[in-house]
Amino acid sequence: MNSSETGSQAAKALVRAQWDTAARGWDAHSPEIRAWLRGATDAMIAMAGVKRGARVLDVAAGAGDQTLDIAERVGPAGAVVATDLSPAIVALAEDRARGAGFTQVHCRVADGEDLQVEAASFDAAVCRLGLMLFLDPLQGLREMHRALRPGGGVGTVVFSAPERNPCVAILVATAFRHAGLPVRDPYAPGSLFSLGSPRRIDALFVEAGFRDVATTAMDAVFRMPSVDDYLAFVRSSASPILQILAGLSPARAQAAWDDIRERLRAFDTPTGWEGPNELLITAARRP
Ligand SMILES: C[S@@+](CC[C@H](N)C(=O)[O-])C[C@H]1O[C@@H](n2cnc3c(N)ncnc32)[C@H](O)[C@@H]1O
Repeated sequence: MNSSETGSQAAKALVRAQWDTAARGWDAHSPEIRAWLRGATDAMIAMAGVKRGARVLDVAAGAGDQTLDIAERVGPAGAVVATDLSPAIVALAEDRARGAGFTQVHCRVADGEDLQVEAASFDAAVCRLGLMLFLDPLQGLREMHRALRPGGGVGTVVFSAPERNPCVAILVATAFRHAGLPVRDPYAPGSLFSLGSPRRIDALFVEAGFRDVATTAMDAVFRMPSVDDYLAFVRSSASPILQILAGLSPARAQAAWDDIRERLRAFDTPTGWEGPNELLITAARRP
C-alpha cells in the first residue's frame, strides 16, 4: 500500500469511527429526520423507479429510515439491501427493520466505494445524504452503476450550496473557527457541501456511466420546537461537525457550542425554530 492509500484508509477509518459514535444519536432523531426529509425521500424513491417486487440497493443507509419506506414500496416479494460503512449504525438499521417486521430488508456493513455486491443484481439504487461524505464519490457512483442491471434507476440526495443551507454553513464555519483550523473549500471532497452544485453532481454521474441524468433542487425546512432541540440533534448525531470539534478541550468545545447556539437563534420563529435547507435530488439510469 502506498502512502496515499494508507492516508485514505486512515481517513475512512476516522469517518467510520465518527459514525459509530454518532449512530445512536442519528437513530434517536429518526422521527425529526423523517419529517425533515419527507419530500426529498419520496422524490428520490420515485425518481429511482422503485416498484413493487423490485430489488433495491440502499447505500450509506444509516439507521435505515428511508430503508423502511423502500421496504414498504417493494413489498414482501421485493428486497432491500441496506449498506453502510459504520457497523454500529447498520446494527440499528437491522433492529429497526426487524421491529417493523420487514423480512425483505437485509443489512450489511459495506463501504460505498467498494460495495462487494454482485454486478447487475439490482433494479434500483438510492443514497440519501451519504454520497457527499464519500472521499471518492465518483467511485461510489461507479459502484452503484456496476450494481444496477441495464435500465436500472438511481436516486441520490445531497446538500446544495452553503448559501442555500445557512444553518449547516454556520455550523461548519463556526466549528472551524473555534477549532483554529483554516476554513476549508466548502466543496472539498468528503465535506457536507462537496456535491452542492447541480453541474458538478451531474458531471460525476455522467463520468460514472449514467444516462438521463437530471438534478432537481428541493427546499427542506428542518423544524424543531427550539434552537436547543436542533442543537441536541447536531451534538448527538452530526458526525462531520463533531469531527471538526473533536480535538478541543471540554471548555473550548462548550464555547464553540455557545457561539453556534447564538448564531442559530437567527432562525427562531414565533412558533419554534425553522432551519432552511436546500437539497439536490439526482436521478439517472444505467444504459
Ligand atoms: C447523514 S448520514 C445519512 C444516513 C441515512 N441515509 C439517512 O438519510 O438517514 C450519512 C451516512 O453515510 C455513511 N457513510 C459515510 N461514508 C460512507 C462510505 N464511504 N460508505 C458507506 N457509508 C458511508 C455514514 O456511516 C452515515 O451512516
